[in-house]
Amino acid sequence: MTDLQRSKLLVTRTLPRLSQARLDKGFDGVDIVQWKEDRAIPRQEFLKLAKGADGILCLLTDKIDAELLDAAGPQLKVVSTMSVGYDHVTVSELEARKIALGITPGVLTEATADTTVLLVLSAARRLREGVDAVIQGKWGTWSPTWLLGSQLTDKTVGIVGLGRIGVAVAKRLKAFGVQKFVYHGTRPKKDAEKEVGGEFEFVDMDRLLKESDVICVCCALTDKTKNMFNYEAFSKMKDTVVFVNTARGGLVEQDGLIRALREGKLGSVGLDVTVPEPLPTDSELLSFPNCIVLPHIGSGTLETRTAMSEIAIENVLSGIKGERLPHPHDE
Ligand code: DGY
Repeated sequence: MTDLQRSKLLVTRTLPRLSQARLDKGFDGVDIVQWKEDRAIPRQEFLKLAKGADGILCLLTDKIDAELLDAAGPQLKVVSTMSVGYDHVTVSELEARKIALGITPGVLTEATADTTVLLVLSAARRLREGVDAVIQGKWGTWSPTWLLGSQLTDKTVGIVGLGRIGVAVAKRLKAFGVQKFVYHGTRPKKDAEKEVGGEFEFVDMDRLLKESDVICVCCALTDKTKNMFNYEAFSKMKDTVVFVNTARGGLVEQDGLIRALREGKLGSVGLDVTVPEPLPTDSELLSFPNCIVLPHIGSGTLETRTAMSEIAIENVLSGIKGERLPHPHDE
């Protein structure tokens, strides 16, 4: 980088190795301040370190709201989050102050879709119960009736949000012999349907809930989608349904999910995201053998996390220079 006045860049965590090495080498004209502890930056520390920053490279664990922007000051030009989701950012506040927002679209599609399939199969084939049985010495002789799960062949899969990740999930699941995809979202997506191939139908939420054997949640968390999966929604699902959420915990009204599980309304559940994160170990959600919970590792491969952090760096450097971001949130 050249021609920069000295700028301050705040980075809220240690990044994957290659990107961290770039930060350690530094950028011309940029003073980097970094929170390097292996835990989310505490709020008070964040407010303190943000002061005077021209750019902030943050994570989905860092709340970016009016208070933080006030603490940073009027020179702040860009917030670059190392995530595709930006529900932790109050976008209206950034827009009002003309602060650019960068995200990391595209590069985590494959890893997140892989994790979605991992959870579909794990939930459908009762992986948690099987592994627990082996570890706890409950594995008896082979039995024709023990630990029977379900398979995807000839089934209907419902996808909520047929965006990049939804399409990648559908492509993968198609290979397991799925008969039909139903999907719901803001509008029908004929191009996406064509890209995957096979039978697709854009349906209302009610039909999706009632007709799906497997439901994959792949949409963004917004004011409109918050808590869209509540007790009422779970009650409409088949009692054999495989319900998987790899998007955001806030899409699910968790008490409603727990009640539905308690009442045996759901076949099996796979979650990569919860409210809160981390989920307390005494959460009732963890007591159901037919519910598998992962610790938000959907994008957790070295390749993907490196690609995400590289994009986040490019976004923040462009923003500091006053240039258009390579990956703004609104594209
Ligand atoms: C994102 O980028 O929003 C993902 O949740 C990270 O895994």
